[in-house]
Amino acid sequence: MGYTRIDKTMADALCQIVGEGNYKTDLESLDLYGRDYTEDLCFTPELVLLPSNTQMVSKITRYCNENLIALTCRGAGTGLSGGCLPIEGGVVLGFEKMNRILEIDTANHQAIVEAGVINEDLQNAVQALGLFYPPDPASKGSCTLGGNIAHSSGGPRCVKYGTTKDYVLNLEVVLANGEIIQTGANVLKNSTGYHLTQLMVGSEGTLGIVCKITLKLIPYPPYRSLMLASFNNAREACATVPAIFAAGVQASAIEFMDRKGVQLSTQKNNIAFEMGEEQAYLLIEVDAFNEGELMPQCEKIYEALEAHAVLNVLMADDSETKEKFWKIRRSIGEVVKQHSIYKEEDTVVTRSYLPDLYDGVSKISEKYGFETVCYGHAGDGNLHVNILKNDLADELWEKVLPIAIRQIFDLCKKYGGTISGEHGIGLVQKPYLDIVFSEAQFEIMRGIKRSFDPNLILNPGKIFDM
Ligand code: LAC
Ligand code: ZN
Repeated sequence: MGYTRIDKTMADALCQIVGEGNYKTDLESLDLYGRDYTEDLCFTPELVLLPSNTQMVSKITRYCNENLIALTCRGAGTGLSGGCLPIEGGVVLGFEKMNRILEIDTANHQAIVEAGVINEDLQNAVQALGLFYPPDPASKGSCTLGGNIAHSSGGPRCVKYGTTKDYVLNLEVVLANGEIIQTGANVLKNSTGYHLTQLMVGSEGTLGIVCKITLKLIPYPPYRSLMLASFNNAREACATVPAIFAAGVQASAIEFMDRKGVQLSTQKNNIAFEMGEEQAYLLIEVDAFNEGELMPQCEKIYEALEAHAVLNVLMADDSETKEKFWKIRRSIGEVVKQHSIYKEEDTVVTRSYLPDLYDGVSKISEKYGFETVCYGHAGDGNLHVNILKNDLADELWEKVLPIAIRQIFDLCKKYGGTISGEHGIGLVQKPYLDIVFSEAQFEIMRGIKRSFDPNLILNPGKIFDM
């Protein structure tokens, strides 16, 4: 579909909506807003606008819709599926000026925020009041809540507390024609018509533009224990995960890291960490409202670990060690990016199939000569598989990679899962969506897209083709 190129008159009209200092046209900025964390992809927009309120977003959207200008929203650009890349050029709408926490309602355990609020800023603000907003992506220090909604982002704590979708009560959304709607109500229960709020969550900015968000909060559990268990067999580490649940413990995190991931993370971060023959690790956290509730949970976990040939268990006794273990885990994605050209997959399966998924991925990478780094949210059956290019020839990499990815995703389907747990489909996973969706499902999604955005101006070319 042909989109209108932005001429001088159009640019002036759009810039006037946001006012002086709130737009960018210089090449350096356009390049910056044309990238996210997905590989080294770049699609340069024609204009970047930074609105400061919903009315401005509405005017911009109406203008783009009437003039058939592509419009792509962007949080902090930490996404890993190319979801915010403006592949048709046009306007990129940045949310950095819409970053206010508007209300923290301690009586109703709710927060109302603008879409550009950084995840960790909200976590800190509510924690100071004894409240908890659990979803905690690895990029929590920079990613925005609007971006989290776009992909229904997760993080380590989601195994106990659920992902972004479980905390969104209501959204203020600008539709493609500029109209402003509420998708629901600020209530915990709602069985009133279609659930437009949940339809928006995970829709990656293709259906409407989320400007304000009402989030559910819960009481903050102040006590936590953290242990790092090592295994000389990665399959065994994966197989331990369902055993921890079977022991009756609801851990607040069960993260898997393979040897290579830990090696890269400790080396690149200069973290002192002794390694012997370990092939994999589980980082396991429990939390509680009373300190006395921690030890009984740790003991049950310890028994499950012992039954699965754990090599060693390190308890993080002080906050420094806890921080160190979490740093090793949280920076794996980042250090892999620094280490080699790579392709990141966000595989997810029914939890008890994790050992089979891990084995399958190992076999596929062996077959094609790839090195992989596997890590992620084992408690959710969600394994991030990073395929490294290292010194493979470009031609071979480009030819074989899509074949290997398809085989990995076939395994996800076989083991009751799907092709993304928390990173979304965006641009780079789009060619593989047919593995899990039938033509009937695509048609339903196309119909939804058409009814929200008949001119197809919102984040064009993402998730599926029209
Ligand atoms: C993580 C990101 C990559 O879990 O989702 O580190
Ligand atoms: Zn993750």
